[in-house]
Amino acid sequence: MRAANPLELICILLWGWLSADLFVFASYVPLREYAGPNFFDAWEYYNFVDNTTWGNVTYVDRGTAMSNRLTYINDAGNAVIKVDNSTFIQPAPLVHRNSIRITSHDTYGIGSLIMIDVRHIPYGCSVWPSFWTLGTEREWPGGGEIDIIEGINMLTHNQIALHTTPRCFQDVNPGQTGQTIQGDCSTPQGCLVAENRPNSWGPSFAQAGGGVWALQIDVVGIFVWYWSRPDVPENISTANSTSVIDTTVWGLPSASYPASACNISEFFTPQQLVLLITLCGTWAGVPDIYASTCHTPTMSCVADNVIGPGSPTYDNAFWEISWIRTYLNNPVPLPQTSSPVQAPATPNTLIPTSSLPMTNTVGLTSVAEPTRAESSAQPSAFSMTRLLFIPLLALLEKVGAPSRSNPEDKLHLKVLTRLQIR
Ligand SMILES: *[C@@H]1O[C@H](CO)[C@@H](O)[C@H](O)[C@H]1NC(C)=O
Ligand SMILES: *[C@@H]1O[C@H](CO)[C@@H](O)[C@H](O)[C@H]1NC(C)=O
Ligand SMILES: *[C@@H]1O[C@H](CO)[C@@H](O)[C@H](O)[C@H]1NC(C)=O
Ligand SMILES: *[C@@H]1O[C@H](CO)[C@@H](O)[C@H](O)[C@H]1NC(C)=O
Ligand SMILES: *[C@@H]1O[C@H](CO)[C@@H](O)[C@H](O)[C@H]1NC(C)=O
Ligand SMILES: *[C@@H]1O[C@H](CO)[C@@H](O)[C@H](O)[C@H]1NC(C)=O
Repeated sequence: MRAANPLELICILLWGWLSADLFVFASYVPLREYAGPNFFDAWEYYNFVDNTTWGNVTYVDRGTAMSNRLTYINDAGNAVIKVDNSTFIQPAPLVHRNSIRITSHDTYGIGSLIMIDVRHIPYGCSVWPSFWTLGTEREWPGGGEIDIIEGINMLTHNQIALHTTPRCFQDVNPGQTGQTIQGDCSTPQGCLVAENRPNSWGPSFAQAGGGVWALQIDVVGIFVWYWSRPDVPENISTANSTSVIDTTVWGLPSASYPASACNISEFFTPQQLVLLITLCGTWAGVPDIYASTCHTPTMSCVADNVIGPGSPTYDNAFWEISWIRTYLNNPVPLPQTSSPVQAPATPNTLIPTSSLPMTNTVGLTSVAEPTRAESSAQPSAFSMTRLLFIPLLALLEKVGAPSRSNPEDKLHLKVLTRLQIR
């Protein structure tokens, strides 16, 4: 038997104290569900060529998408979003295949939780799908961008990233299960984290039954979780569109961006949701990058994939999504026009960052902003200790790492998890 080291004891005590008194407040109230026959009602179709990542696609309008069945609801009631795989594209100097890019009417600011339940992610050589959020009000990347699901070609794992203007970083000890590849969010890659959890991409993702992602946008940080189907927490798997969600039992996120190294309210304006599939372009189509996972006859992304019949090349280039649900971490009354399933006709910022009443959030959203903390009757012990605690937990994981195979160490981690679940 190995005695717990002092650091572990401190963590366990701190964790216990935190979960007993404070964690009860991190619950999220449902705001809107995109699902079933109404899934596509609250989105804008791009209706132009890919002029942001220069893929060889034309993003069609809603009418074309529906009549060509590039967006539809399948027999299982899930939303399908796909690349055209039934048109023969002739070789030409400039080719584009039809595909989809949709942007949510609504925007989501600090205090939001966004979850997506996915059955199938588009994959294959030249295929570049993404589910992400785009900051409004300022020219990109002035309002920030959060990439929740993104990958290319035959990559085997998902990648999560933030994109911002300079001076937003990922904390060196963020407390996450993923692997940091780039820590400066203003670089072309963004602050990029590779998923470590199993089956986050490609055929194995679909074979495992898909999975769920959750994005939490908070003043204390931005956090992204991923679970393959068998690992989805019960609080999510048993939930329906009206359930309250409790984020406190989720453990370490896959990617974590604490506000300690990036002032969230400075770099992120209210975010629109974006779902798309492009082909080739400035990431998947870069020759060296293409060649790293794809080995096709001429090694040309466009010639070997986009040009030609489209099938079977793009038979797996489709999203199948059960639902997207959005939540708010306190019950701000909604305007009459914004029922959870019916979108308002015009873009509507449901959660203006500046109007979040802090009294209901018990410090969850108030601490990182000194002016708010000062005027708060309840100084937010939660956020402060959480900010301290996340790096501590990460440090503990590091300290324990060399002897992780020791069952004793596993036990300590279990104890931590248990206490967290209380
Ligand atoms: C892309 O094209 C659309 C339609 O012309 C235009 O509104 C938009 O500003 C363009 N975006 C970029 C980044 O050039
Ligand atoms: C693919 O699209 C890009 C961006 O529009 C363009 O520069 C390139 O020439 C296209 N390639 C082919 C073979 O059409
Ligand atoms: C999830 O947890 C919260 C807080 O404990 C609870 O209010 C909610 O009912 C749970 N939801 C489900 C579907 O279990
Ligand atoms: C959601 O689940 C709750 C509790 O199980 C139930 O009362 C409610 O009717 C369900 N709502 C829908 C829309 O299915
Ligand atoms: C973070 O940014 C907000 C908005 O720009 C600002 O009001 C606040 O003072 C900043 N907080 C810190 C700690 O710099
Ligand atoms: C396109 O792909 C779908 C599966 O995504 C498949 O069912 C269909 O047969 C394909 N279309 C053609 C024309 O092969």
